[in-house]
Amino acid sequence: MTYSMEASIEADRLEEQVFQSNYSIQEELETFNFLPEEYVLDAGCGTGVLSRYLVHKYGVKKVDAIDASDFRLQQALKLCDTYAKQCIKFTQQQLCNLDEHFYNKYDTVISRYVLEHVSEPIDALFELNKSLKKGGRIILFDLDGVFLNLYSDNKKLNHYMNEIKSNIKFDLEIGRKLPSYLHKAGFTKINWNVELLNCTEKRLKEEKENTEKRFIAVGDFFTELLGSRKKFEELKSLYLHEMTQPYNTLVFNKYICSGIKL
Ligand SMILES: C[S@@+](CC[C@H](N)C(=O)[O-])C[C@H]1O[C@@H](n2cnc3c(N)ncnc32)[C@H](O)[C@@H]1O
Repeated sequence: MTYSMEASIEADRLEEQVFQSNYSIQEELETFNFLPEEYVLDAGCGTGVLSRYLVHKYGVKKVDAIDASDFRLQQALKLCDTYAKQCIKFTQQQLCNLDEHFYNKYDTVISRYVLEHVSEPIDALFELNKSLKKGGRIILFDLDGVFLNLYSDNKKLNHYMNEIKSNIKFDLEIGRKLPSYLHKAGFTKINWNVELLNCTEKRLKEEKENTEKRFIAVGDFFTELLGSRKKFEELKSLYLHEMTQPYNTLVFNKYICSGIKL
């Protein structure tokens, strides 16, 4: 059993979180420019929220949107209006093993909150490098410390969190590693920027709502990790309670990284 990325609630969460301050697509793309005629690959498109944004806000006319989950791609197609359907082509693909017809094609590869779920992220970056034309760019958005970086002195919660940390299969601290991974995968002109997301006031309220939905999506997976549903429910209620206490801190980072294929 793995992280249930396919749960319908997870699709709703992905669509809703772009309206929250910590996950605003508008702010994430602020320092980048997109031209209508460039050919873009949205790698790990999920519900297609980023692809639709590129089409509607930047006028990008040609986007290939790929994801490992056929279920997620079907949801993505339903969320497109007629114009977006003309511009975006959805295809099921594994990032670590792209079909050759995706090679040497794109001006821009963009991937948002995906590599933390990929067991071999450097292999995925090698494949994404191959998918770019010479001189093409890659843009990555990933979090570092999300969920993990809650400080609380609650012993029971910390016991559960340690169990989760030592058994979890995806990398919730991938952000800091991305520049190095881009270098290993052959990219040059690597740039990175990091935004500190401190969860107080409005951001804390939004992050609590987001975390409640994340817990629904990971319920089966965490139950298996902890050994019983009762333990998972206890972790969930302790986490949601502790994260909102004014004397506890919840802080994580968003890495925005880019590179060029020579
Ligand atoms: C957290 S979602 C992010 C979706 C989207 N990029 C967004 O900004 O909302 C992660 C997505 O990555 C996809 N994914 C995870 N591992 C993948 C892989 N190895 N190959 C392709 N897609 C993958 C999942 O199916 C899921 O849709």
